[in-house]
Parts: sequence; structure tokens; C-alpha cells
Amino acid sequence: MIENETKYVVEVGVADSLRLDILNIIFTPLSIKLLDFVPMQSTVIDLGCGNGCMSLELAKRFDYVIAVDNSAEQLQIARKSAEQAKASNIEFLQTDVNSLRKLLSSKVDAIYCRFILMHLKNHIEVLQALKDCLKKGGYIIIEEPYTYSVTSSPHSIGIAHAIELHLAWSRRMGLDFEVGSRLAGYLKSAGFNIIHDKIVSPAPVKSFQKPEGDVIKLLHKNCKQQYIEAGFAISEMNRVEREIEKDMANELEIQPISIAQFVARK
Ligand SMILES: C[S@@+](CC[C@H](N)C(=O)[O-])C[C@H]1O[C@@H](n2cnc3c(N)ncnc32)[C@H](O)[C@@H]1O
Repeated sequence: MIENETKYVVEVGVADSLRLDILNIIFTPLSIKLLDFVPMQSTVIDLGCGNGCMSLELAKRFDYVIAVDNSAEQLQIARKSAEQAKASNIEFLQTDVNSLRKLLSSKVDAIYCRFILMHLKNHIEVLQALKDCLKKGGYIIIEEPYTYSVTSSPHSIGIAHAIELHLAWSRRMGLDFEVGSRLAGYLKSAGFNIIHDKIVSPAPVKSFQKPEGDVIKLLHKNCKQQYIEAGFAISEMNRVEREIEKDMANELEIQPISIAQFVARK
């Protein structure tokens, strides 16, 4: 049973899998570099593992990986890709982040988390709970959006409106999609020692190079129902959708969000 569950407000499972795959293509080359900070003989949690793209990368490098997500659907996809990759050193754990401390107190050498704090509230409390899961001197690697801005060349009004809407929605949900810009303070408040701190931008992607260029389209499509439930007008959703369709018919160079990367120790 999942206790203290925090509601994740984006689609899960197959519906969001392609979007996560694209994010993986865009961001993993930058993420991989952070893994060098952690000794290879480690047990590592992949927190909010999603469809498990990073769990596989962690499993190639570290002794043991615990892939954690509160969504059974995400874990099902992650488990399948681990089987296909014959990665036998990954364990899958369905639980909410708030219950981890009880299950894994002082048990792990490192925690990796990407694009998860942006979906949570009470960041300092969450970080303190994660710290409790680490052995003394253990590592936390965090990657979260720094500025939630996506630009394109030539300029796309559709992309600009889609991002504006997504940010407005996140605020209405009480979430901070630019949590990366505040993480240094949060980590210090939770008692971590920061050993690496960098803002990075991935290489631009060409919209015609499928599937990378379609990430905005997918984001809009996958969140549309949630936008409507949060009170945004259907007519506005449809207008943004038409704008994205029209702009995406042209070749665009898209600059994805920049992210804050942190490595800190207990
Ligand atoms: C944006 S996805 C990121 C997936 C993955 N970390 C990546 O970078 O590809 C966020 C993931 O966190 C999971 N999640 C959201 N809230 C959670 C919570 N409270 N406890 C555990 N997992 C959660 C979601 O189910 C989703 O798979």
C-alpha cells in the first residue's frame, strides 16, 4: 500500500512514454557526466524513475539500482525495458517518495533524481527524507529545470504559448517548475554539502528530426485534460494546439529548457 501519496499531475504509462523517451535523448548526455562523482560499487536509487531510461544507465555503471516510482504503469514500462536490456541488477519499488525513509533508512549509497522535485511540494522536507535514506557520506544527484523557457528559431508563437500555459498551470497546481534555481538553498537547509553545482543547456534540436521536435506537441496533448480540469478554457487549449501544428509544419531549431545540476553529500 502506498502511504502519503502525492498526486502526480502529468499522464503516466504509455501515454507519456514517448515524451519521456525524447527527454531522455535530449538530457541524458548531460546527466551521464554527473555519475562520475559516485563510486561504482554503490547501491543507487533512481527516484521517480518514469519509464526507466536512467535506471538502465545507472545499472550499467553501479552495482545495484532501486528504481522507485509511485506509478505502477511507469514501473511496468521500466521493468519491461530492463528485461529487454537484460539488466538483472535493478529492483523495482512502487512507493511514494514520502514513504521511502521508512523503507530504506540509511540503506543506500546514492540517490539520483531528474525532473521529480518539480512535481513535488515541501522540497526541504522531501530532501531531508531522502537524506535519511543515505548512508553517511552518501550522494544525491539532482537535475531540475532552472528556467522553464523553450525558444525556437524561427520564433514559434505556438511553442511560446504552450510553455506559457504549462507554467501558468504548474503555478495553479502549486508546483515550482523552476525549482532548479532554488535548489542550492533547499539542499543546504536540508543539511547537504553541495560538491557540484552547474547550470547546463542541452544542444538545440531540429523539429523535423522526429521524434525530438515533437516534445512540445506531446506535452500539450498529454496535459490538455489536466489543463481543462484546472479551469483553463478549452478554446484556449485548441488555439494553442492549432498554433503548434502550424508552426511545426516548418523546420524549427528548438532550444530546450536549461537545467540545474547538483551533486551533494550527506
Ligand atoms: C517527469 S517524470 C521523470 C522520469 C525520469 N526521472 C526521467 O528523467 O526520465 C516524473 C516521474 O516521477 C514520478 N512521481 C511523481 N510523483 C511521485 C511521488 N510522489 N513519488 C514517487 N514517484 C513520483 C512519476 O510517476 C514520473 O514517473
